[in-house]
Amino acid sequence: MTTNDIKYNLYNRDNTPVAFSAATLEKIGMLIRRYPEGQQKSALLPVLHIAQEELGGYLTVDIMDYVASLLNLQPIEVYEVATFYTMFYLEKVGKYVIEVCRTGPCSIMGSDPIVEYLEETLRIRTGETTPDGLFTLKTVECLGACGYAPVMQVNNEFYERLTTERIDQILDDLRKNKDLDKSPGSRWVEKFY
Ligand code: FES
Repeated sequence: MTTNDIKYNLYNRDNTPVAFSAATLEKIGMLIRRYPEGQQKSALLPVLHIAQEELGGYLTVDIMDYVASLLNLQPIEVYEVATFYTMFYLEKVGKYVIEVCRTGPCSIMGSDPIVEYLEETLRIRTGETTPDGLFTLKTVECLGACGYAPVMQVNNEFYERLTTERIDQILDDLRKNKDLDKSPGSRWVEKFY
């Protein structure tokens, strides 16, 4: 598989062509070959993670069309997956993506005041990114740690039994580590290779 196999001219927002490197295409080819002939759609989730991680941190329509072309899918099949899962971003996000669980147990244990506190402290609304590009705040459904509610996830890390004091400490630590080279999607991509 090479970039010449792609059927359309697809571009990033800075007008550079959307394309994986030859090395990444080779790895994606290996991922696709893990599945039976004709079942290349099974590789869609890992390929989307790789696309998000390696093509700018979020999925534009052109990037999703590129993935569709690589996997021989209809673009709509990619859009419906990318828009369903909260770990895929359709707009640029901050270096740290804060995802607060809002499902029942976390809600009962106080996730709403935690979200309000984060909005006040970061001076953004849920769904927004701080002007310095450091934090994006999101709410998500159950993170699978209900017994430790309220819970949030920031990139690779889980934070449990949240309080406002703990939020202050976490934000402080993240600001101190802001130069670490860790993107929101790195936890996924490391698993695929
Ligand atoms: S309800 Fe929040 S982790 Fe399950």
